Amino acid sequence: MTGTPDAFAGNLDYWEKAAAIHGTTDTDLHYHVDVVVDGGSLMTGLEERAIALATGADLDDPLSGVRDLDVLYLQSHLGADGVVMARAGARVTCADFSATALRRVRELAERVGVPVETVETDARALPESLHGRFDIVYVTVGAICWIDDLDLWMRQVALALRPGGHLVMAELHPLYQMVESRAPELVVDFPYGGGAGLTFTGTGTYADPGAELESTTTSYAHSVADIVNGAVRAGMRIDLLDEHTAIEINPRGDDVLQRGEDGLYRLLLGRGTKAGDDPQPLPVFLTLITTKA
Ligand SMILES: C[S@@+](CC[C@H](N)C(=O)[O-])C[C@H]1O[C@@H](n2cnc3c(N)ncnc32)[C@H](O)[C@@H]1O
Repeated sequence: MTGTPDAFAGNLDYWEKAAAIHGTTDTDLHYHVDVVVDGGSLMTGLEERAIALATGADLDDPLSGVRDLDVLYLQSHLGADGVVMARAGARVTCADFSATALRRVRELAERVGVPVETVETDARALPESLHGRFDIVYVTVGAICWIDDLDLWMRQVALALRPGGHLVMAELHPLYQMVESRAPELVVDFPYGGGAGLTFTGTGTYADPGAELESTTTSYAHSVADIVNGAVRAGMRIDLLDEHTAIEINPRGDDVLQRGEDGLYRLLLGRGTKAGDDPQPLPVFLTLITTKA
């Protein structure tokens, strides 16, 4: 499916506004960028693990493998993970279609004192200057749902990689994306894959639900098969696909996921075999690592 120019413009407008707001308010749930300035990281354990597995690094020191690698952080938003990888010794390029997001990336990189290149581009049409340059293309949490044509996007990823380079994707699971709300009523309103686009009008953002931001956005459904087959059709080998039923963050900032006593968030719908039993957690996150042939 190919989105309309209006859908693209609505999404860009939303991301420009979100990039200006995120990390600037006391109510922000995710973008505590001062943590990065203070030497910390906003990467989750699953994101660090994905990088470690792709680079062959020890899981106790997951970012050690990025030293001296060329990393493209695609759809980087504020670029916090890119800045952290640059601090670990990677040569990082952040690419996004939001000029405001890239300004925020440069500000953060300057505060941390690391070089990060920024490139304003539609992820579906990467400029030639990015082709064949990268050991890793890193994509994380809520990136591909904005892409209408996932095969085209995968071809861009493959173009950006050197032969032997890796796509490292740590993404929301398509099954979790289907669920709009859990209570008081279970609402499952998003298709499972196929590239169908759905338009939503609303206020706030996932990181700052109370933010004064009105938007009409269109997002696109991609199944696990769409993702894997798209990568294969783009000439990449699948090295690893993991599906995860618990994550450290609540990516959408709503109450679809429930926080357990262990602090992890899960998608628990209905009940187990008997009344009062907890159900089995459904997949909420996936890790994909591919290699360009
Ligand atoms: C949910 S954010 C990704 C989150 C990010 N990984 C993080 O941890 O903050 C999605 C990003 O995709 C970008 N984006 C959406 N559609 C795009 C497109 N067609 N081309 C380039 N960037 C796009 C948005 O500007 C936004 O920064």
